[in-house]
Amino acid sequence: MKFSVKTGPAAAQRTACLVLPVYSAGSLPAATREVDRAAKGLVRKLLREGDFRGETGETLLLPAVPGIGSPRVLLAGLGERSQYDRKACRRAIRSALVALGRLPVSDAVSWIGNEPARGTDAYRRARLTVECWHEVGYRFLEHKTRDIKNPAPGLRSLGLGTTADEAEIRRGIQHADAIGKAMSLARDLGNQPPNVCTPDWLAKRARAIARGQQRLQVQVLDEARMRQLGMGALLAVSAGSKLPGRFIIMQYRGAAASQAPVVFVGKGITFDTGGISLKPGPQMDEMKYDMSGAGSVLAVMQAVSELALPLNVIGLVPTCENMPGGAATRPGDIVRTLSGQTVEILNTDAEGRLILCDALAYGTRFKPAAMIDIATLTGACVIALGKHRSGLMSNADKLAAELLAAGEAAGDPAWQLPLDAEYMELLKSPFADVANIGGRDAGTITAAAFLSRFVGDVPWAHLDVAGTAWTTRPEKGSSGRPVPLLVEYLLRQTTRS
Ligand code: BES
Ligand code: MN
Ligand code: ZN
Repeated sequence: MKFSVKTGPAAAQRTACLVLPVYSAGSLPAATREVDRAAKGLVRKLLREGDFRGETGETLLLPAVPGIGSPRVLLAGLGERSQYDRKACRRAIRSALVALGRLPVSDAVSWIGNEPARGTDAYRRARLTVECWHEVGYRFLEHKTRDIKNPAPGLRSLGLGTTADEAEIRRGIQHADAIGKAMSLARDLGNQPPNVCTPDWLAKRARAIARGQQRLQVQVLDEARMRQLGMGALLAVSAGSKLPGRFIIMQYRGAAASQAPVVFVGKGITFDTGGISLKPGPQMDEMKYDMSGAGSVLAVMQAVSELALPLNVIGLVPTCENMPGGAATRPGDIVRTLSGQTVEILNTDAEGRLILCDALAYGTRFKPAAMIDIATLTGACVIALGKHRSGLMSNADKLAAELLAAGEAAGDPAWQLPLDAEYMELLKSPFADVANIGGRDAGTITAAAFLSRFVGDVPWAHLDVAGTAWTTRPEKGSSGRPVPLLVEYLLRQTTRS
């Protein structure tokens, strides 16, 4: 897919489809007015007669519009001009691109992003357009051999019509293209069935991402190496599976070695049966998405590398399968973690925190400026926040505020939950240093409290994406979240200090 900047009059543009914004109450943006004039008042006539009202998200295809360089016009409603903000802009762009994707056209030019929307600038609107195209055009058809009801759109080139600063639009396109591709990668990884997306397969994907990338290096530890290092918690989770676990280390060097890195840690459970604490049957297939944190880390590393960000960034992915079996860990087993702390595993279904605790302890070795883990960690988070906002918990207020702000700006929002020391009480074990579960109360927070014991004094944040990493309605599929939040956070780090 090619994205470009288009300047010059809309009516003269030679493209298979012009996408033109219209406010409700008949207010026409300049590009639309110009086309209306060339087409002898066609748009105004449609508005007058009520064929199009300009409401947010409304679209209307006009074939064979006379007097202009394009054979089709797609009208896109923006709603009321005085109410037009970032959310409305997003909605308008999304509907227009969905409609555009269904047309038999290979190129188009959209003028929606040229309209000022409260809380946005030209850069942001270019990003909205390009990221949205990636989202709308995404399909996962690898395992379908027939009956494809919703084929991928044929659009190959999308122009962004503008009268604003071209350089800002170009920068927006560049960022959004990297983010969009990274989201699609995360979605592909998540959507793969668990018999394809195994720990070793994920490690191979990490290697493939780094191939030919000068500044990106990948190292993969096998279980023998994990044992040598003392990753007893990760190995305890992996024990029940026939598939060997992996520990993936991706290192991106974009700044001086003296600059402390940002470390991402992604939960990579390629399938979570619960282990001996077996999960109930219904919806268990969705536990293939339990590696979504890992997928987002691989995707962010790809975006960082593509954008050649002037930062040092490390991605750590502990990955294994949580299965029952003769060799599986039992409720009551006690293991020694990489940090030296012992854990009483009271519930083998609380496995995410076990693989993460060894990865977080490993992460502290890099003396990070910030360490952020991403995990589909608790069902309780879905109960608390639903599928709209990710849960955020942190031991560092500044980092938490930066991540929350990045999420808002990127349209990938999170919400902070508290992490008072009192919650740690719930994790007391009579036999080991800590238990891996804290009972029914505050399940999302006690999971984070458990993790906090393994990060030392590193500024750390935990994103629980159990609700946001995939959707079930209207369609089941990986969402690619929180890739936008994370890349936004990194982009903001590059313009600081
Ligand atoms: N991967 C699950 C969390 C999950 C469940 C995410 C449902 C999305 C939807 C995690 O490993 C898990 O099983 N957590 C347990 C923890 C409990 C045993 C303390 C949970 O949430 O029930
Ligand atoms: Mn589990
Ligand atoms: Zn899990």
